Amino acid sequence: MNHYRALVADKEGEEQPKLSIKNLTAADLPEGEVTIRVAYSSVNYKDGMVGIQGRMVKNYPHVPGIDLSGTVTESSDSRYQPGDQVIVTSYGLGIAHYGGYSEIARVPAGWVVPLPEGLTLREAMILGTAGFTAALSVQRLEDNGLTPDKGQVVVAGASGGVGSVAVNILAKRGYEVTASTGRLSEEGYLKELGAAHVIHRDELTESEKRPIRRPQWAAAVDPVGGKTLSYLLSTLQYGGSVATSGLTGGVEIETSVYPFILRGVNWLGIDSVECPMELRRRVWERLAADLKPTMLSTTIVNEITLDELPEELARILQGQVRGRTIVKLG
Ligand SMILES: NC(=O)c1ccc[n+]([C@@H]2O[C@H](COP(=O)([O-])OP(=O)(O)OC[C@H]3O[C@@H](n4cnc5c(N)ncnc54)[C@H](OP(=O)(O)O)[C@@H]3O)[C@@H](O)[C@H]2O)c1
Repeated sequence: MNHYRALVADKEGEEQPKLSIKNLTAADLPEGEVTIRVAYSSVNYKDGMVGIQGRMVKNYPHVPGIDLSGTVTESSDSRYQPGDQVIVTSYGLGIAHYGGYSEIARVPAGWVVPLPEGLTLREAMILGTAGFTAALSVQRLEDNGLTPDKGQVVVAGASGGVGSVAVNILAKRGYEVTASTGRLSEEGYLKELGAAHVIHRDELTESEKRPIRRPQWAAAVDPVGGKTLSYLLSTLQYGGSVATSGLTGGVEIETSVYPFILRGVNWLGIDSVECPMELRRRVWERLAADLKPTMLSTTIVNEITLDELPEELARILQGQVRGRTIVKLG
């Protein structure tokens, strides 16, 4: 390996990061036991926060990208051999450690997930952290008693990454899905993913503060937070659950004890970053088998190159990206 291309963020003081494609060498690789020729990465909301806003990263220069899939080229850990196909997401990838926007990556062996049988490297990145988070949300909802006969499941931020995959997984599993979006122009896309109903996100917020409203949903997948989450908690059916993963609509919520003590609702926190490896592998295995979204075999996925990334990172922060965007590196 003489050199390899990577998207590098440089930042001084309080200014926003400057992004450029650079040729790096082996000397630039971070510490780790497993070296990977990256085939694909993907674009997540968090990548926009890192690459455009300069959030969460302490040391520069930095290579962003919280997801990667690829083939092992070197390993000093006996669990991995050259030629193995692997997925790496979460932990410090793309935050405290150089990430996936690079033709070559080196990571700690403890972060590596073997590519499950039934998924390709490309499909793994169509899913990426967003898809994994959607699947973890469905897993937690079902662990808490959700079945299709319980009633409608609402997905907030439905045309985004987590939302799109959640709609698709739930529909395939026989749930009646209501997709909530700020972009009603995406109704056709959401129905293609399997949504039975598409509503505007304004229907999931109300200025009047009320802890309890008419029960509507057996469950909710919520990558949005803020006022939407406050509303969802007040409209879950008796014993219903909401799986909260994100904050695109805000971090503050207003609620009271009433949904919990009068309706027995469950508020489930979803964290992909520190998700224990045993559960992480189980969810990836399920994504390759019974949770495998139908969108993996369609053309409704956006594929870009390293050079197109800076623009795409800005777009995702503006809520303009539909579904999943993958980055082809290999
Ligand atoms: N907990 C975890 O481990 C974990 C893992 C992955 C992601 N996340 C978080 O989950 C969230 C979604 O990530 P993503 O990668 O799916 O991002 P994304 O593709 O940008 O999707 C987010 C969606 O949220 C909706 N939205 C945007 N601005 C909004 C606003 N002001 N009010 C209400 N809805 C708004 C939009 O959907 P519509 O246009 O359809 O309304 C947007 O497409 C982010 O906050 C991310 O940090 C957390």
